[in-house]
Amino acid sequence: MSGRRDGGAVAAVAGTRFLLSDESHAHPDYKQRCLDASETILTELFGLGWPGAPHRVIPNGATHRWLRGDPRGPQWIRAANRLTAPLASRIPTVVQDRAIRAQRPSQPFLGPQPPTDDGPVNLVDSGPLYAGVNVLRVADIRPAGELVKALTP
Ligand SMILES: Cc1cc2nc3c(=O)[nH]c(=O)nc-3n(C[C@H](O)[C@H](O)[C@H](O)COP(=O)(O)O)c2cc1C
Repeated sequence: MSGRRDGGAVAAVAGTRFLLSDESHAHPDYKQRCLDASETILTELFGLGWPGAPHRVIPNGATHRWLRGDPRGPQWIRAANRLTAPLASRIPTVVQDRAIRAQRPSQPFLGPQPPTDDGPVNLVDSGPLYAGVNVLRVADIRPAGELVKALTP
């Protein structure tokens, strides 16, 4: 037809690929876990203060501890997250920061904050390692500019 090599798209959204870029502020260990991942999980586990919103993650200490049965997470944790949500949204930021630093895979108080390069390292195993299903096809961390070029031939 027109000889164009693309399918006619004028825009695209690509999240996970740019999570694995040099410029992304994901914690380096989070990036490495993504490169090593062999599965993703659709769960509601990290729903403290944010209940009933399914999110896709790769496995870490918290998912190993709590997702032995239902991948959404234990029913009682989801119920507790629903009940405490109105309260959780009113907790002052400084107290929330302390709670994030205290978050552990063994404890059922798991919020939605992922590990960043300027944040506490405990979140690598106690926070959500968000990733789309295509994370399994990403093999390297590259400069964002290169990724854009590769996506726009
Ligand atoms: C680091 C990260 C954070 C995300 N945060 C959100 C969010 O806050 N709300 C949401 O609806 N989806 C969120 N997503 C999911 C993305 O919107 C998207 O559905 C998913 O990443 C699949 O698309 P992709 O293959 O382009 O990454 C997040 C994904 C990643 C990797």
